[in-house]
Amino acid sequence: MPATIAVGTQWGDEGKGRVVDVVAKESSIVVRYQGGHNAGHTLVVDGETFALQLIPSGILYDHVTPVIANGVVVDPIVLLAEIDSLERKGVDCSRIKLSSHCHLVMPYHQALDALNEERLGDSKIGTTKRGIGPAYSDKAARLGVRMEHLADPRTFRRMVEAALLDKNHLIREVHGHEGFDPAELAERFLDELAPRVMPYVTDTVDLLHDALGRGERLLFEGAQATFLDVDHGTYPFVTSSNPVAGFASVGAGVGPGVFDRVVGITKAYVTRVGSGPFITELEDETGDILVDRGREYGVNTGRRRRPGWFDAVMGRHAARLNGLTELALTKLDILDTFETIRVCVAYEVDGAQRRVMPDRFADLERAKPVYVELPGWQEDISGCTELHQLPKRALDYVKFLEHEVGVPIGLVCVGPGREQYLQFGQ
Ligand code: GDP
Ligand code: IMO
Ligand code: MG
Repeated sequence: MPATIAVGTQWGDEGKGRVVDVVAKESSIVVRYQGGHNAGHTLVVDGETFALQLIPSGILYDHVTPVIANGVVVDPIVLLAEIDSLERKGVDCSRIKLSSHCHLVMPYHQALDALNEERLGDSKIGTTKRGIGPAYSDKAARLGVRMEHLADPRTFRRMVEAALLDKNHLIREVHGHEGFDPAELAERFLDELAPRVMPYVTDTVDLLHDALGRGERLLFEGAQATFLDVDHGTYPFVTSSNPVAGFASVGAGVGPGVFDRVVGITKAYVTRVGSGPFITELEDETGDILVDRGREYGVNTGRRRRPGWFDAVMGRHAARLNGLTELALTKLDILDTFETIRVCVAYEVDGAQRRVMPDRFADLERAKPVYVELPGWQEDISGCTELHQLPKRALDYVKFLEHEVGVPIGLVCVGPGREQYLQFGQ
């Protein structure tokens, strides 16, 4: 049976974790295909909150095998801490499968991420400082260390030493900080981490193809989002991987033909963490209301997320880039109190209106939002689990977004809880 991809359509934190948790109900395997512990995915089940960084959001179902595939970069210290924390809450993590091709996020990656940001000063990206960019850089430069190397101490020591040759130079000479001792670092990883991590490591490509061969339905979960994609996002204010749906194939080792459903996870407004252009950004009281009501603070870093109105130009572009077959709309309830709600339907660049995303960063920086104003419903919708319970104006808002983006909306979420959603549009 074919497979589903769930992908963020904005700048992250759309509610991917909670939507994946809903869709995972019908899947035997949930696969993370890129990113690392820069992600923070929240699930609320029976009033209990789970914040996941590396582990796929299907973990809370007993019938789901969670797979961390080759495209993900993994800090084993963080992974083990996440496993411990879930197991303390009674979640069985023995089912987790980790690709032997996953690259390791090493302490020197984390150090370099922070030092680079410091050096950039006002031009900083605003990264999560988790070492994600440096780890993907090493992967591309063929200096990366993979999970499989933890099983081969001689190779592991040699690779850490090779990776640190130029990095220690950079850390000491350029940044003026203390470097890392390769032998000490390698021994720590081999002695303390390898014995605990290796039991999860396996050939995940084989595992996924076996499942596909048995006709099982698989779900592929993207971290970050379309506009943080290193190719298609607001470069250079992006992450260092490819969250877009097309990468699910590369990041997990399955052909593109297996996918028949691509769910674009979309917040009913927009947020962004870190630097970079944001056309519908609200730097006023309305923005504060969105942040307060939506509790828009990073799961991972605690940073305040920048708020803004819904941007249909981004939605249309995300539909193209990912081949979206449907949208899952989240956090509609956060708009409950507004008298009027704005939606950006086009950008104005140098006096001309355009409905398509500008191709050049310089145009994006100059773009101004063209808004349509809709009436708010000013009613609590957090208890609506059936379409007919939704107030007419809330229904009209959702239909307007569907029309503007041009992709059918399947799911509408009205609260963080697992059951707080309704099926839209059948
Ligand atoms: P992700 O990174 O895309 O998985 O999203 P995050 O977990 O970082 O941020 C989404 C936040 O919104 C989390 O705190 C969720 O619990 C919460 N959330 C998700 N969907 C809804 C919703 O429909 N309504 C409300 N009020 N909160 C939601
Ligand atoms: P989830 O999966 C929101 C942002 C950072 C920064 C940029 C680069 O929870 O949606 P990085 O550490 O990746 O090199 O930082 O990307 N960023 C996210 N923003 N949600 C995320 O993940 C993010 N992961 C990275 O804030 O602007
Ligand atoms: Mg998040």
